[in-house]
Amino acid sequence: MMKYTAFDCHILHLPVIHNRAGNITPVENSITLPFDIQRVYYLYDIPGGETRGAHGHKNLESLIVAVSGSFDVTIDDGKNKKRIHLNRPYLGLNLKPGMWRDISNFSSGAICLVLAAQKYDETDYIRSYEDFLNYRQHG
Ligand code: TYD
Repeated sequence: MMKYTAFDCHILHLPVIHNRAGNITPVENSITLPFDIQRVYYLYDIPGGETRGAHGHKNLESLIVAVSGSFDVTIDDGKNKKRIHLNRPYLGLNLKPGMWRDISNFSSGAICLVLAAQKYDETDYIRSYEDFLNYRQHG
């Protein structure tokens, strides 16, 4: 399987339908996203100073959106790290498979929406950073 790097994780500009009464951002399988959505989850009520999602995924691809408020996503491929501030409901960070990531610096009331390409699968998680580095080096 191809190994992605942190540089393959781009921000996608989602469609925005403007209206004086407010905006709509539609997200559709195969049209808006490079994958089909199998699962949606969202993080909310995050206490100030907390960090979420400090783990790796072997195969999971996802799109992370700050539908309300803001936060930082740090992506690490074992060699390169990048930190991306998300603060617009029409911008989505496309996380490729094989990344270690955490989400931090949540603003008060922030909602982190995650559109995921696979159902929940604990065997896809890599919970220790040492195991992650080993996985990146040896597969
Ligand atoms: P986890 O992904 O470890 O949270 P985070 O990395 O953001 O701190 O998930 C926390 C718990 O929630 C874990 O016990 C599994 C459960 N969970 C599900 O059951 N389904 C899901 O889709 C997700 C994301 C988590």
